[in-house]
Amino acid sequence: MSIEIDHLGIAVRDLEQALRFYEQVLGMEVNHCETVEAEQVRVAMLPTAGNTAGNRIELLEATHPDSPIGRFIAKRGPGLHHIALLVDDLEETSLRLRNNGVQLLNEPRAGAGGHRYVFVHPSSTGGVLLELVQK
Ligand code: CO
Repeated sequence: MSIEIDHLGIAVRDLEQALRFYEQVLGMEVNHCETVEAEQVRVAMLPTAGNTAGNRIELLEATHPDSPIGRFIAKRGPGLHHIALLVDDLEETSLRLRNNGVQLLNEPRAGAGGHRYVFVHPSSTGGVLLELVQK
């Protein structure tokens, strides 16, 4: 089994404003932008060095206040929202977690870039919202 970091998800109030820092000041580049209707979120992906499958920063801006990112920002302000790990077999991993009493927040489904994912409740992960992404 191999697990690697796919991306770090950062909740921002204003995507354009965040990109002024990450692109224009820091010098990263967006290689993918998308609105994910199911999550009511606008996503910008910025690969880090190497530009492999993973190793990206994901900036997330709510398209509606009453959405997962909108509620997160209302409660806690902008900041690190989740860590995403790539797994070999998302179905198998999800089943194994469930069998160990771990709470998953959704059934495996397609998100940004068409990748299948589940979110794992922070109560099992050391307090961090964890996203598992199918490799
Ligand atoms: Co993510």
